[in-house]
Amino acid sequence: MINPLDLYAKIESLIGFDAQYETLYQTYLRLLKPLHVKRILDVGCGNGRFLVHLKDEQISACGIDRSVAMIERAQALGVEASTKELDELEEASFECVVAIADVLNYIAPSEINAFLEAVARVLPQNGYFVCDVNTLYGFEGVAEGVMCQEKEDQFLCVDATFENHELVTKIVLFEKKGELYRKEEGVITQYFYPLSFFKKLKMFKLSSTKPVTLFGDEPDKTILVLQKC
Ligand SMILES: C[S@@+](CC[C@H](N)C(=O)[O-])C[C@H]1O[C@@H](n2cnc3c(N)ncnc32)[C@H](O)[C@@H]1O
Repeated sequence: MINPLDLYAKIESLIGFDAQYETLYQTYLRLLKPLHVKRILDVGCGNGRFLVHLKDEQISACGIDRSVAMIERAQALGVEASTKELDELEEASFECVVAIADVLNYIAPSEINAFLEAVARVLPQNGYFVCDVNTLYGFEGVAEGVMCQEKEDQFLCVDATFENHELVTKIVLFEKKGELYRKEEGVITQYFYPLSFFKKLKMFKLSSTKPVTLFGDEPDKTILVLQKC
């Protein structure tokens, strides 16, 4: 069975969040500017489009992602990106880490503390971790539901249910191969983290938050600016 993160990579263009993600990137760029950071790591960089923005701003940056398909796409855009894990990177080698568009929500509660420790390890003291998390509205009012899309030889059906602070998204993709359709399916689970979780962290101080409305009528994401203690 296909890695669900690679299946997401496959359906990304069918979902078509490009305009909303562009708004999100511009908001990140505005938040990053006054921090004057010179070297940025983009964790869960996906197809590398935010890395392209950083390159345009002449900010040195590289990205990592667990999806091989995404990294191939990022590399094709001419940015530095790999499937390395955080613990393979040199200690305190970035002034800032970003994790954009749901990356934190992909991480299970059993793994989130280890993930945050791994982020902290690549930062110096006072280094920044700027990331976003979905609000409850982002899960209940925006992400939950059923969506079908059809494009050329592809037919996609996404069925997302939010229960007990978990969004379970079932993905079924049909791709025409000759006269037949090939079916691929996978499940991606996302986890809700309230702001109170980030306020209690020992390794990071929550410096500021920025609500962002991308899809609905009220903020569906919050960008967090955290600083390593
Ligand atoms: C919704 S996409 C966002 C991608 C990108 N940041 C963007 O703005 O388009 C979430 C990404 O996080 C990646 N991801 C999820 N968990 C990860 C982890 N533990 N480490 C690295 N990447 C991860 C996925 O492969 C996927 O590319």
